[in-house]
Amino acid sequence: SNEAELIHMFKGIPFTTRSSPELLKSLDAFDAREDDVLLVSYPKSGTHWLAGVITKLYDTQVTLTSPIEFGDISKLEELNKLSSKRIIPTHLDYNMLPENFKNKKCKMIYICRNPKDTAVSMYHYYRDNPNLPTVETWTAFFDLFVKGEVVCGSWFDHFLSWEEHENEKNILFLFYEDMKKDLHKIVSKISLFLGLNVSDNDIQDICKKSSFSEMKSDTEKENSDPSHTVCALTSNRKLIFRKGAVGDWKNHFTPKQNRRFEEIFNEKMKLSKM
Ligand code: A3P
Repeated sequence: SNEAELIHMFKGIPFTTRSSPELLKSLDAFDAREDDVLLVSYPKSGTHWLAGVITKLYDTQVTLTSPIEFGDISKLEELNKLSSKRIIPTHLDYNMLPENFKNKKCKMIYICRNPKDTAVSMYHYYRDNPNLPTVETWTAFFDLFVKGEVVCGSWFDHFLSWEEHENEKNILFLFYEDMKKDLHKIVSKISLFLGLNVSDNDIQDICKKSSFSEMKSDTEKENSDPSHTVCALTSNRKLIFRKGAVGDWKNHFTPKQNRRFEEIFNEKMKLSKM
């Protein structure tokens, strides 16, 4: 019954009731602007990290909105009213993205993370987030994840829908693991992609302010609004900064789960470059 109250299906994908069916149905009428920047991710891929970096890169007024699919029918008008440049997050897969963003060739940044770590991060999010159905065990969640029976649907379908457009000039693909390895390099890449002229010193400063510990403590100290997130599944920012590590899946996956995951990965991703 919990599940029934919190989740509804739209075009075959599970959404929380925080994304109203009316809003989802009306998304195609959304008025995109040429200078909108989309921040696209499957949940738990590092969306907040990337959002923190992007907003710091601008020295002009920009507004980081809540995700386009979050809220009710009044959302479109609310976004319409914003006069400043908009950075718009979304967890939508490519096929569900409002056509206007595609026609206007808006810049889009897709962030991707090792799906095993994404699964683990999402498991903890399910446990801590009252907007999501209860999952009793990691084993139960693992099964739901590989079957795509979690919010936002299958990680594989989401990734593949976007990867098909990877070479389009207005789309930049980024990996969480690359950000962990060399944040400076990735921030420079983002700055170039957005056509911004940011000095090396400023980039260094942005990297410092965007570390996991800085971002986590900013949220705890309420230097950033704790009731505002870029995730369509909660507005509680305190749920976001958990561990921020690469490879936490090794602490959760059993050898058997790992084999099963790899089999599914190899099958689903056989046409992917990943
Ligand atoms: P974990 O649950 O593995 O810790 P999203 O923003 O898409 O919801 O993703 C959340 C994940 O990104 C969480 O992963 C969170 O800890 C991690 N994260 C957030 N800020 C980060 C940062 N500055 N550096 C590294 N990881 C970060």
